[in-house]
Amino acid sequence: MSNYVKIFDTTLRDGEQSPGATMTSAEKLEVARSLARMGVDIIEAGFPAASPDDLEAVRRIALEVGNPPKGDPNTKAPTIAGLARANKSDIDKAWEAVKGAKNPRIHTFLATSAIHMKHKLKMDPEEVVQRVSEMVAYARSFCEDVEFSPEDAGRSDPEFLYVVLGEAIKSGATTLNIPDTVGYTTPNEFYNLIDGIVKHTPGMHEGITISVHTHDDLGLATANALAGIQAGARQAEVTINGIGERAGNTSMEEVVMTLKTRHPVFNLETGIDTTQFARVSRLVSNYTGIMVQPNKAIVGANAFAHEAGIHQDGMLKHQTTYEIMRPEDVGVNQTMLVMGKHSGRAALRARLASMGHSLDDEELNKAFARFKELADRKKVITDADLEALIADEFYRPRDVFHLEGLQVSCGTLGMPTATVRLRGPDQVIHDFASLGTGPVDATYKAIDAIVKTPCKLLEFNVHAVTEGIDALGEVTVRVQSEDDGHQTMDAQSEAMYSRVFGGHGADTDIIVASAKAYINALNKLIIARTEGAQPVTNDFGVMLG
Ligand code: KIV
Ligand code: ZN
Repeated sequence: MSNYVKIFDTTLRDGEQSPGATMTSAEKLEVARSLARMGVDIIEAGFPAASPDDLEAVRRIALEVGNPPKGDPNTKAPTIAGLARANKSDIDKAWEAVKGAKNPRIHTFLATSAIHMKHKLKMDPEEVVQRVSEMVAYARSFCEDVEFSPEDAGRSDPEFLYVVLGEAIKSGATTLNIPDTVGYTTPNEFYNLIDGIVKHTPGMHEGITISVHTHDDLGLATANALAGIQAGARQAEVTINGIGERAGNTSMEEVVMTLKTRHPVFNLETGIDTTQFARVSRLVSNYTGIMVQPNKAIVGANAFAHEAGIHQDGMLKHQTTYEIMRPEDVGVNQTMLVMGKHSGRAALRARLASMGHSLDDEELNKAFARFKELADRKKVITDADLEALIADEFYRPRDVFHLEGLQVSCGTLGMPTATVRLRGPDQVIHDFASLGTGPVDATYKAIDAIVKTPCKLLEFNVHAVTEGIDALGEVTVRVQSEDDGHQTMDAQSEAMYSRVFGGHGADTDIIVASAKAYINALNKLIIARTEGAQPVTNDFGVMLG
């Protein structure tokens, strides 16, 4: 058996399905580029049947990330996968979306647990076997690389799974992904499940890859994935920061760093450049508005912080006393002092290129203007500052409303007041002044008065990108639409209208960063409504897990 574990990233599909994680096409493309740069083997770029926008986003990723760079045909390109329910229309759309990649994959699924078959699918086990056989064969008629997932495998009867998976192999599946869809199993159970599948599935052979896809409802996703790998799985389905439906998916950084740090235990390799974890984690957090908890393993702000005196003392004596990984191995504390006020355009272009951002001349001009503006206020500009600027400047959704100006007065001597100037979609300038309980409240009230899109602010987070009093402030927010017509809508429209959207903004002035983050989230919400992006549902209109 191979000692290589393929990393299948589903940040852009299962991850993007989590509330508020909606990303724009430009953001998805940038995340896909980052995943490719870090060595991800398979990128699940989305669920093309969800909406024409989703299909288009996957198609772009397949073309732009799923092919080696022009003039460098020998560079490895990741496989690009598209998810499809087990029906012809979904499979057609998935193929349409991924076929431009050098290595396309169709990933199709159907539930196999008694609970799902009876209550959700309303299908007999025999019908499920039949459908799997037909739809895997249908997918295989387009694409040589077909993955099949028996949804809710963690609660399925293993004997039935062997039959279904045997049929999938017979019909041409090359990867069998075993999802613990509701995060129900324990590591021991999941080990036995994978072990049983390896040993008892009819037709199992060396060319079939067994994959694990675990959810974190009981906090066991990483432990279960690793148990499955120990039982013979050679593909792990993961997301950056563990984002995903409900409590999330298995986190890539946890699985990969466990395999690396405990190499003598597993004796397995991955192709991931782990020094990119901190950067990509920040990128995904900024684009989705989903903060990483400070004590999150590997990428949390405290993952390498030592507070207790005894620990600090130990660390000063030797780093290995309290650190099992080196921070630099996951991209924390890398040399970051890069640029200042006197750095030129060429230096900025080179620095951004080394961080993976290749800008055209017009984009470089914009980035340079932002950089100079920041350099006037901040002495040393780090990679993290540049990342925040790039996210703020280039990966915003198409501007519906744009912040043109902001003036606030606050303090203890009067009522906090904000005057906001926005350019609207019709290019008309709107000014509005509001009072509030504080400067952010006043600013958001003024924005609300102009944008007139009722919504609830669910979360507001501000943090400094780097240390120091002149640090760039980064704000992430999550907002939920609150529409008056909500009560009279059908379930599908209601699901869309109550979706959560994340926003991000960066500036040395945190009130400006707050305004940008809020407008960013509102723009996403407005675009999703007007372009009719549909929520992702399964065959029966149930939101997907
Ligand atoms: O959790 C799950 O079952 C899934 C499948 C679609 C693979 O995400
Ligand atoms: Zn899932």
